[in-house]
Amino acid sequence: MNKKSDLPDNYVPALGYDWLTAIYDPVVQLTTRDTLVKRRLIEQANLNDGMKVLDLASGTGTLSVMIKQSMSSVDVTGVDGDLKILKIAQSKAKKANVRVDFDQALATELPYPDSSFHRVVSTLFFHHLNRSAKAEALAEAFRVLKPEGKLVIGDWGKPTGAMMRLLFYPIQWLDGFETTRDNVEGRLPALIGETGFGNVQTLESINTIFGTLALYSAEK
Ligand SMILES: C[S@@+](CC[C@H](N)C(=O)[O-])C[C@H]1O[C@@H](n2cnc3c(N)ncnc32)[C@H](O)[C@@H]1O
Repeated sequence: MNKKSDLPDNYVPALGYDWLTAIYDPVVQLTTRDTLVKRRLIEQANLNDGMKVLDLASGTGTLSVMIKQSMSSVDVTGVDGDLKILKIAQSKAKKANVRVDFDQALATELPYPDSSFHRVVSTLFFHHLNRSAKAEALAEAFRVLKPEGKLVIGDWGKPTGAMMRLLFYPIQWLDGFETTRDNVEGRLPALIGETGFGNVQTLESINTIFGTLALYSAEK
């Protein structure tokens, strides 16, 4: 695992606060229909044998491990800024007996050459970034994707109704109003398109007890 220590002051850990990282998996499992969302995202990624996949802000590695379990010939790399959560991810992959490479890096400064991956996937991440960091991370995703590569994102999206909007307030309180605003106002697809991606699509909205999650895809 590549290591880098200092994180920016505005870095938002998995559950908003560093001390909550240890309970991230059970909380997310109970509240965000996590397995369903990640399964749907994997279906939308249209993986083929031998593809190289980057799990952007891989957190505890749940999606990385699920991808590897769904297709063992795929080469999966997880990247996250938080060394503590990467250690959880590494032990999860080891326990599942799958090989995933985990790197510590910021999504806004990825340590990979241009055109390295066939797919960049990401769940529950972009709402941790302010507008400019969202644009930088999307630009990095674009850069490291191979031509015709595909981006698939699952994250908080535009609520499907007033109740879903209300239920999202605790997430905004935890992870920050500024970073979550573009998500809840449904601006992620436009931001993805502004980075240069084509064929930007909102694939699905999935309601949870903390609001509406959306799946988006786009192509380089
Ligand atoms: C809510 S968690 C999602 C983790 C995982 N993708 C999942 O679906 O469970 C958000 C993750 O983003 C990471 N993160 C936040 N800001 C980041 C940044 N600028 N660069 C890389 N990772 C970042 C956090 O460390 C955390 O692991």
